Amino acid sequence: MYLNRIEEKMLSGEFGEVTKKAIEIIVKVGEVFGAERLIDIAHAHISGVSYFNIGDEGLELLVDLSQKGAKTRVYTTANPYSFAGLSLYNNEELNRKQIQITEALIKMGVDPNSFTCIPYTLRKPAIGEHLAWAESSAVIYANSVLGAFTNRESGITALMAALIGKTYDSGMHRIENRTASEEINIEFNINSILLASLLGLHIGRLTRGVPYIKAKYSIEKEAMLNLLLKNMLASIASTSSASMAILDGITPPNTYVIDSSIERIHIDEKELYQSIDNMLCKSDVLLLGCPHLTQEEMLMLLRDEYINIFKKHGISKIIVTVGANLNIRSAEISNIINKIRERHKINVEIMPGSCAIVSNLRLLNMTSVYTPHGKAIHYLYNLSGAKPCIIGV
Ligand code: F3S
Repeated sequence: MYLNRIEEKMLSGEFGEVTKKAIEIIVKVGEVFGAERLIDIAHAHISGVSYFNIGDEGLELLVDLSQKGAKTRVYTTANPYSFAGLSLYNNEELNRKQIQITEALIKMGVDPNSFTCIPYTLRKPAIGEHLAWAESSAVIYANSVLGAFTNRESGITALMAALIGKTYDSGMHRIENRTASEEINIEFNINSILLASLLGLHIGRLTRGVPYIKAKYSIEKEAMLNLLLKNMLASIASTSSASMAILDGITPPNTYVIDSSIERIHIDEKELYQSIDNMLCKSDVLLLGCPHLTQEEMLMLLRDEYINIFKKHGISKIIVTVGANLNIRSAEISNIINKIRERHKINVEIMPGSCAIVSNLRLLNMTSVYTPHGKAIHYLYNLSGAKPCIIGV
């Protein structure tokens, strides 16, 4: 691999031991993927932040790096942590270890207001900008909606890229790899989060790489369109290794290639409901925010028209996960929560900076939860221990 003068110096140890290790890892991974050079990145996003996922080994690695003076060289954000980061468990050690992970990341330079899976709301990447993001739902959104260029990094490669401000030039960083693998025609209007999610899970199962999706979205306002896209894309990335979908009329031009000879596939709404039988269960808890909700999206889903649907399902508690930057004590949010509690007898609990799916929900006595989000439907049981029950919103 060709390395410039600065990169050679990093590799020889002139920038310190941590930088040397980081560039060694990025170069090695890049060589495996056939990269011929490194490229500068504008933003790194790190995943693997939950103690339940990375355990003591991951915790020790992060603490060790932070103690050795590791520092990010570009703007860096991180994924949400588990509910232990909010000290929700009756287990001091668990809560403390999660907080140690967060503190080590912040010490290395991670934005303390991040801890979110929608990092593009903190810093919106420019079209054509190169990133090193982990978190599959954010990666596919960045490539497909924002026209940025990023591979689906692992937590470790994203962190190493953050420490050198560079990544390897291969995969989604090269336009020739952003080529549609099949054209998918959606025969119905996408008008709910659940429908967008089931569709995304289905597309993920059938795509061979980069699906080119032609669809119509029912939207009253921009926030709803974004919610539908976020959920469809996160779901595609859950059932496949796709890092990008080309969205007709949405993906910025000149960031992808479509070859006219590709296979055309049609999807009928009925196909989506074929495998949902085991998710027609009941719960008194609803989980919203996978991917995280913005304040506008959250307030939209807490409007009376949705609350009435939740009441009909017997829901008495709504857990909403949002980024660490959201001010949950604002008057607007407090008023809505109080109104829902008093008028509808439903408790709304907002969990900033955290993710329910990477938390152990069984330890919190939650054995099943309602959710409309495809990524949660796909991962909930295996990662959190709670069974997902679908709800049509
Ligand atoms: Fe975000 Fe956790 Fe879902 S990281 S996309 S809320 S699984």
